[in-house]
Amino acid sequence: MSNNTAKVDVVLGLQWGDEGKGKIVDVLAQKYNIIARFQGGPNAGHSIHHGESSFVLHSVPSGIFREGTDNLIGGGVVLDPIIFRQECEELEKLGVPVRERIRISKKAHLITPTHRIIDAASEASKGKSKIGSTLKGIGPTYMDKTGRNGLRVGDILAPDFQDRFEALKKKHIAFLKQFDYAYDPDTNVKEWMAAVDYLRTFDLVDGEYYINDRLAQGSSVLAEGAQGSMLDVDFGSYPFVTSSTTICPGACLGLGVAPSSIGHVYGIFKAYCTRVGSGPFPTELFDETGEELRRQGHEFGATTGRPRRTGWLDMVALKYAVMLNGVTELIMMKADVMDTFDTIKVATGYIVDGKPQDTVPYDTYAEVTPVYQEFKGWKQPLSGIRDEKDLPVEFKEYIAFIEQQTGVPVTVISLGPDRDETIFRK
Ligand code: IMO
Ligand code: MG
Repeated sequence: MSNNTAKVDVVLGLQWGDEGKGKIVDVLAQKYNIIARFQGGPNAGHSIHHGESSFVLHSVPSGIFREGTDNLIGGGVVLDPIIFRQECEELEKLGVPVRERIRISKKAHLITPTHRIIDAASEASKGKSKIGSTLKGIGPTYMDKTGRNGLRVGDILAPDFQDRFEALKKKHIAFLKQFDYAYDPDTNVKEWMAAVDYLRTFDLVDGEYYINDRLAQGSSVLAEGAQGSMLDVDFGSYPFVTSSTTICPGACLGLGVAPSSIGHVYGIFKAYCTRVGSGPFPTELFDETGEELRRQGHEFGATTGRPRRTGWLDMVALKYAVMLNGVTELIMMKADVMDTFDTIKVATGYIVDGKPQDTVPYDTYAEVTPVYQEFKGWKQPLSGIRDEKDLPVEFKEYIAFIEQQTGVPVTVISLGPDRDETIFRK
């Protein structure tokens, strides 16, 4: 590799998703030539606000609103043509030239209508122990990928695509026999095929060559993660996870870039925690404070509309995510949600089965009680502040504590959904 080859910077969620990746990628996008999604699919909901209007992206990278920025949907992504089409048509209504700005890796896998049915049937069969999946067909599609049955975007160019689709559908119908689940196998099939025709009008590329060629030409790349580290298929709270590699190595896998080409790793976290779906959440609050976080933070799913579970910042989990990702810079979101709080708590350790522990427990079902450190609230609105030196001292102490605990500087502070509600620290 020549020394001129540019690096791939990565933006990742460090918690359970919904950290604000959409806003941050949109803000950072002006510094990059290419924004690339590398994993996940329409389970993601990346919100971008410009003044009064807001837009939720599910499959399209968050660089789409920047003129002159190219957006790549990488091979590690799972794509639902129906959702992709809806999203693109909405963007076109806003005047965004989607075909000009989006490229799609032929290696991305296709979510078919029966994948979504399997997701729903599987969740229904689990009853109380359900994952709380977004029901977008993510898990079944990744299962078919690793099971070597999947359909990829590039396959839509093959003359026998229709036959391959029918063959997979047949397999799915056989698989669905194990569930006591009523469904119509033809649900959305027509619409899906029409959306595949729409997909064919896009620039379908060999994503790994595309990105490496551009890097060799000196183009800068920002890889946009979906979900969060605590939902990673290997290191999250298994089985309450998503089905892809959400941590930094996922950018290499999903784009086809070498580990040595990774540059900055931006880790995004909220000043508190949220989780949507089932699974452990040690610092979860069930009281008025939790309600206040949900209300002030508008903590309702961008993809499913579900109310998000809310709780205090979990330093044990945050340090774990920093370790797994090799985070070089931290980006802190939504501290303004806690503007009125007298006291702010951070879990610095756990009591697990009666014993103190400062690591994330292997046992997803373990009885975990957080040990908290308390901080004085700043009790003033943060959202109007644009200059670091105007930040209240209590807030600066909160940040200093996070930096000291993680060993990573907080270089960006976001205090509202808009682009300009962002402080870049020197
Ligand atoms: P963004 O990119 C928050 C959660 C689901 C469920 C689990 C598995 O917006 O941060 P799946 O549909 O992937 O099989 O669901 O993961 N989940 C998310 N939670 N934000 C997301 O994406 C999520 N994507 C999946 O709620 O608990
Ligand atoms: Mg989300």
